[in-house]
Amino acid sequence: MMNPRTDPRLEVLDLAKSYITDGGPVPVLTGVTFSLAAGDSVAVVGPSGCGKSTLLQVIGTLDEPTRGKVRIEGQDPFELGEADLARFRNEKIGFVFQDHHLLPQYTLLENVLLPTLAFPGGPSAEGRARELLRRVGLSHRLDHRPAQLSGGERQRTAIARALIHRPAILLCDEPTGNLDEASAASVADLLFELHDPGESLLVVVTHSMELAGRFDRRLQMRGGTCIEL
Ligand SMILES: Nc1ncnc2c1ncn2[C@@H]1O[C@H](COP(=O)(O)OP(=O)(O)OP(=O)(O)O)[C@@H](O)[C@H]1O
Ligand SMILES: [Mg+2]
Repeated sequence: MMNPRTDPRLEVLDLAKSYITDGGPVPVLTGVTFSLAAGDSVAVVGPSGCGKSTLLQVIGTLDEPTRGKVRIEGQDPFELGEADLARFRNEKIGFVFQDHHLLPQYTLLENVLLPTLAFPGGPSAEGRARELLRRVGLSHRLDHRPAQLSGGERQRTAIARALIHRPAILLCDEPTGNLDEASAASVADLLFELHDPGESLLVVVTHSMELAGRFDRRLQMRGGTCIEL
């Protein structure tokens, strides 16, 4: 039985990832190792092209590693079959991307509920979606569509959607990268406010050293590996 307070929630062991292209393999990650506990908040920093998004994609089980292991709550997700992996990802991992990835044809409430359609979250899903939208300050916009929102409001909706299943790990890839300073600050505030330091693990890629300074831990990527700052 794992003790969630002391056992690592996320272990990354000698992780390597090369993209296969017509011109041959492009090595991006060459040996990334770190381990994070529940409650950690971690900033991932590094120059453009160093593999930050690649790392998040692999941790988020959207892409397979070329070598090495990922363990989430002790489970190697890449050992799961396709259907089990989809369910595991849906339940355990929340994603917030740089450009929100909301579906334009749906309202905010429907967007937040989308993850619960594939794997129903029970009768309380709509109540939780409304509560999350309230917490991100968008209760008055439930029936609006993403095109009617500002960039910061879209990101706040994306955060609500990512949290609908109370993920074990919230992965954010430059969530404030497209926002002006004030919206970026309010989106960052929300991430910290909604992050439960007893329970969840927050991993955020950012180019902002100011934002990185607000996290418990900082991982710097360079040359395919990473070190803790
Ligand atoms: N599908 C792909 N096929 C081939 N190469 C890829 C692919 N995806 C990414 N790369 C390459 O992998 C490297 C790392 O890309 P990645 O997107 O992970 O960088 P990043 O650190 O997130 O950069 P940025 O800060 O600009 O977002 C880059 O050189 C990129 O060109
Ligand atoms: Mg990136």
